[in-house]
Amino acid sequence: MAHIEHLKSLCPLEGLDVVDVGAGDGVYSRQLDAAGAKVTAIEIDPEKVERAKENLPGSIDVKLGAAENLPLTFGSQDLVCLFFSLHHVPIAAQPAAFDEFRRVLGTNGRLHIVEPYPYGTMFDVVRLVEDETIVRTISHQLLNHMDRDQRFALENKREYVLTREYPSFEFFLEKIVLPDPARAKTYEAVAPEMADTFNRAVEYLDGRFVLHQPCAAYHFSVTG
Ligand SMILES: C[S@@+](CC[C@H](N)C(=O)[O-])C[C@H]1O[C@@H](n2cnc3c(N)ncnc32)[C@H](O)[C@@H]1O
Repeated sequence: MAHIEHLKSLCPLEGLDVVDVGAGDGVYSRQLDAAGAKVTAIEIDPEKVERAKENLPGSIDVKLGAAENLPLTFGSQDLVCLFFSLHHVPIAAQPAAFDEFRRVLGTNGRLHIVEPYPYGTMFDVVRLVEDETIVRTISHQLLNHMDRDQRFALENKREYVLTREYPSFEFFLEKIVLPDPARAKTYEAVAPEMADTFNRAVEYLDGRFVLHQPCAAYHFSVTG
């Protein structure tokens, strides 16, 4: 199961105004665009914004911005998406972020948030340089209790496993660890342990070396 494939099973994307919040390099913005959505990609990291502007199709509007202060007008979006980005928003800023999601959505709007669980072979390796156990746990707790927020109703929750190919430990380092300065610094102290953990965790599946990241997708409608 992949993020956009699942999202398409819940709502047709053709012609929708969709914002991808915490878009990173825009992997999913690109897929939303390919599915016919009118996409705005919002990212807080200026370097990622520049890369996304260079690499993504011109039909995607890439903007520097934060979940808690979206550079979008009132009611301008049909769908707000966050793929693995909610737990990166500081906990103190999350209430403001949900205010923003509601502000930019129209009355028939949808909010789609996918969060990784703090377990799985991918997590087992990455936690050695960045342990997200607490922030991921808090995100799932928040999303599981959104009925306390009168503005959003849970329409669908689906758990699935994201499987990604990492042909070697060196490839994993280049993609996941070294581009992030904080992770790269921590890596120096755990290098042998990390290589060992990777080699134990990686699975040979259908001719590919893969790691698995279980996650849950929460799909909300706007109620108030
Ligand atoms: C794990 S990455 C996910 C990127 C992308 N959604 C994906 O799945 O490939 C989380 C992203 O959220 C961004 N981010 C962190 N805090 C943010 C905030 N307050 N508002 C918007 N984006 C934020 C980070 O810079 C990072 O690019």
